[in-house]
Amino acid sequence: MPARNVIVTGGSRGLGLGIVRKLLESGFHVIAVARSKSDALRELEETARSGGQSALRFVACDLGELEQIPALVKRIREEAGPIFGLVNNAGISAEGVLGMMPDADIERMVRVNTLSPILVTKHVVRSMMAVGGGSIVHIASVVALTGFSGLAAYSATKASLVGFTRSLAREVGRLGIRVNAVAPGFIATDMTQSMTEEARKSIERRSALKRMAEAEDIANGVEFLLSDRSRNITGTILTIDAGGTA
Ligand code: NAI
Repeated sequence: MPARNVIVTGGSRGLGLGIVRKLLESGFHVIAVARSKSDALRELEETARSGGQSALRFVACDLGELEQIPALVKRIREEAGPIFGLVNNAGISAEGVLGMMPDADIERMVRVNTLSPILVTKHVVRSMMAVGGGSIVHIASVVALTGFSGLAAYSATKASLVGFTRSLAREVGRLGIRVNAVAPGFIATDMTQSMTEEARKSIERRSALKRMAEAEDIANGVEFLLSDRSRNITGTILTIDAGGTA
């Protein structure tokens, strides 16, 4: 059986990079989409190369430019072949009191975190329909399910992915397409680098396992949801937070 193609948005760093690495290890072919290629991704591309071909492709795209999405998916389809999996991981966060947040920041966050995954999924699902199945994983967040002061608008974008996951799972299940989400707790990445040591300690203290989850844990969850081991799992939200919200 030929290797299955999986698109990972925001695959250049952080959780996305960890997901790309894990999927390559598991034998998937990966198409990483981000605004620019990182050194870490370049290294992975070399490692994944065999016989002049790499199991990892990079496609540059600003996913906030929504009008580019149809051409992006078409290009991936033409260059890589049928798409089996999609991981909607790219995302941005803006933190602060809602009343003080510039409208432009809120709008961009909704575009990148909500509209973009919905549109990418729309075009990828059409391709999956043609090949009779697939698996889609959205990266939501625990803040979609619990409250967090200073992240109201961000939480709204992540909660939208939860609703999207559940309804789309019902809509495309008969086509053999599964749709799930992972809800990570706080993970040390560029996105959360402003977190103080004190805040980190407090998250660890309040979690059931007295630690924070790591990028690798998220990658393991995503890989499971893409694999046939989860063939009867659709419409679920998998929380991975070391028991922070248990
Ligand atoms: P990050 O900031 O380290 O990486 C984000 C990735 O998304 C990068 O590869 C970046 O290039 C890409 N990206 C951002 N805007 C883009 C755009 N307009 N077009 C194309 N690519 C774009 O963030 P991190 O922490 O790896 O987050 C990944 C996902 O996980 C996000 O959706 C985030 O909301 C979510 N998440 C992160 C948590 C954390 O604690 N780090 C917790 C819960 C969810």
